[in-house]
Amino acid sequence: MPDAPVASESEVEAPEDVLPINGTDYVEFYVGNAKQSAQYYAHLFGFQIRGYLGPETGHEEKVSYLLEQNDVWFVLTSALGPGSSISKHVHRHGNGVKDIALAVDDAATSFEETTKRGAEPVQEPTVHEDVDGRIVTSTIATYGDTVHTFVERSDYDGLFFPGFETWENEVWEPPSPTDLQYVDHCVGNVHEGDMDTYVEYYAQTMGFYNMLHFTDQDISTEYSALMSKVMANGDEKIKFPINEPAEGKKKSQIEEYLEFYRGAGVQHVALGTNDIIDAVRELRRRGVEFLHVPDTYYDREVLAERVGTINESIDALEELGILVDRDPDGYLLQIFTEPVQDRPTVFFEIIQREGARSFGAGNFKALFQAIEKEQERRGNL
Ligand code: FE2
Repeated sequence: MPDAPVASESEVEAPEDVLPINGTDYVEFYVGNAKQSAQYYAHLFGFQIRGYLGPETGHEEKVSYLLEQNDVWFVLTSALGPGSSISKHVHRHGNGVKDIALAVDDAATSFEETTKRGAEPVQEPTVHEDVDGRIVTSTIATYGDTVHTFVERSDYDGLFFPGFETWENEVWEPPSPTDLQYVDHCVGNVHEGDMDTYVEYYAQTMGFYNMLHFTDQDISTEYSALMSKVMANGDEKIKFPINEPAEGKKKSQIEEYLEFYRGAGVQHVALGTNDIIDAVRELRRRGVEFLHVPDTYYDREVLAERVGTINESIDALEELGILVDRDPDGYLLQIFTEPVQDRPTVFFEIIQREGARSFGAGNFKALFQAIEKEQERRGNL
């Protein structure tokens, strides 16, 4: 490995927290076939299918499945006809992330505070009620067709959301969970020149601050490059790295994404685990495909020099293709899946943090070389 790139801490002070956020509420995917996707996430990733919304529960236009694993909620939604915004979204983007929903104490105030600072409104504060109580939501836009819904659920005791009923299948034996615990961060890909626009958008409208900044010098290979800035809220519960392609000899992975997603969108969702070795061993056994890491990555001397001593066995990391990186606060272990739909767009990261607050910048180069090999195989490099 060449020298690890160094992430520069932004000198911008974190401003007053204008938008208190309690965490990620759910991530909603618009997909072509929610029924089948639900089983994919259940059988491969160990999510439990908890809830269902559709014609049987009073919604004629769409179906949604609620999947849960520890603190992670995924909602998988498909249209039942050709004319809806959901089917148009899937037609254009393929399967992808529509909504990174944020848990707040007050959805009306969150909407008011963000839109008065310039956030693009999508849905005014709306009350959703059933016998289990009430939820208030409001929604603003972000990059591409992606949105953030603010969810206020303190007065709700139901399963998830009015309209959802417990999903039941008498013959189904739910696959066991795989120790995926929480949403660590969600990364967006935007067009060249737009990164700073969205950095500014999150700073202005949501009071986020620029936690880390990677230039194309940090994140480049011989062939392709990208730039990235990480926006975070005050307590860093919410972290949104934003990537844009940079000039390279060949097409960058960000350009490939933008081409196939037909625009900006979520590139990957990182899920935190307590024991990445066990988790990845199990995910691989179930058929989750991960990016191949070059064998040279595990050169013991180079690795020891870059990351020092860690608790995990390097043999196990090498066997499973898990990457490791260190920053001033500690170290982290991470691995990236292959894209999870036909288009080379959205994928997942599995991450275990041992103190580190960063995102594995030292792995970018090794990782991109691995991604480029895959791009080459698809003829897109
Ligand atoms: Fe990541």
